[in-house]
Amino acid sequence: MTETPLLPTSEVLSHLYGGAHRLCPTPNSQLQLVLSQDREIDLIELEALCDAVGWSRRPLRRVRKAMQHSLMLVGLWRHDPRLPRLVGFARCTGDGVVEATVWDVAVHPLYQGAGLGKQLMAYVLEELDRMGVDRVSLFADPGVVGFYEAQGWELEPLSRRCAFWYSP
Ligand SMILES: CC(C)(COP(=O)(O)OP(=O)(O)OC[C@H]1O[C@@H](n2cnc3c(N)ncnc32)[C@H](O)[C@@H]1OP(=O)(O)O)[C@@H](O)C(=O)NCCC(=O)NCCS
Repeated sequence: MTETPLLPTSEVLSHLYGGAHRLCPTPNSQLQLVLSQDREIDLIELEALCDAVGWSRRPLRRVRKAMQHSLMLVGLWRHDPRLPRLVGFARCTGDGVVEATVWDVAVHPLYQGAGLGKQLMAYVLEELDRMGVDRVSLFADPGVVGFYEAQGWELEPLSRRCAFWYSP
């Protein structure tokens, strides 16, 4: 006899992930993946996710401070009633009124290609919209420009209106 997976109740999900959580549909019905702005993100777990997508490490105290000063932190969690696992992340900076910039969008390689990155971005934009923020920017790595373009993001025309300054 095959067992039917028990789905968590919305009370359980709200308790673990906060009221603004969202369940992500995936092709695998055994997996419950949840987007949340409220569940606290452990820096070591975030570092492991960033390692997994191949990003170079940043000092944890700087990451902590950057997170404290962010407008929005979004975790994508693989639901487990005892120990949810962080499998995706995005954060935004900005004034919370007019503009925001999205940073550090990542989905763990084991979970990529299932539409989760797209759902993560849609969630981020909807939450920014709820705040009233309607001007959103991001800086895409060359290999992921197509990912954003397919979701309606436009490339800055000829990059002529952007200026960058990097500490030497
Ligand atoms: C970019 C990333 C977040 C995408 O996450 P994902 O869960 O694999 O993406 P999805 O499955 O939601 O893909 C949505 C669509 O974008 C496409 N896509 C995914 N990655 C793409 C890429 N690098 N370039 C172009 N298209 C891409 C998918 O084929 C899919 O197309 P479809 O809707 O026609 O089927 C993920 O690959 C990742 O974390 N990469 C490493 C970190 C990184 O580069 N982050 C971005 C920094 S700017």
